[in-house]
Amino acid sequence: MDTLPAVLRTGLNDIDEQHAHLLRWADALVKDDPDAPPEERKRAFVFLLFYTASHFAAEEDAMHTHGYPAIEAHCARHVAFRGQVAALRREVEAHGLDQAAARRIYQLVVDWLPRHVAEYDTPLSLFLARTRATLTPLPEVEDLLEDNELPAWMERVIEGMERDG
Ligand SMILES: [Fe+2]
Repeated sequence: MDTLPAVLRTGLNDIDEQHAHLLRWADALVKDDPDAPPEERKRAFVFLLFYTASHFAAEEDAMHTHGYPAIEAHCARHVAFRGQVAALRREVEAHGLDQAAARRIYQLVVDWLPRHVAEYDTPLSLFLARTRATLTPLPEVEDLLEDNELPAWMERVIEGMERDG
């Protein structure tokens, strides 16, 4: 996992790879590429929402399946973060996804992740490595796109941003 900074490594490849994936979408949100089509930032946002939900579900499934003792505290952190993300999503749907909003979302992710990794995901990784558990893989982007179109719910999120933005 060359792309993941040392401070974000848990020791379990499955988790590290999924975190690297989340960070790629967070980076895509703030990429200042004048040639990029304007929909790209919105796509990055819906993929970040989708993959955050999928990644948390993968960790939570593994904790349930393998009887992780600290599951309650860990899931509570996910619930709190989901709440922060949902609040930002509502804000974006109401006011649009401009550069400032994209920066705030990016900052939320990069501020939250290192502390969560240190306090919660690293102990989980040690436990899962001992039990030889694996995480459910995240779906590939290509598998989510039908004929290169976004799934209907993602389109609805984007429409919300455009309607009110
Ligand atoms: Fe976690």
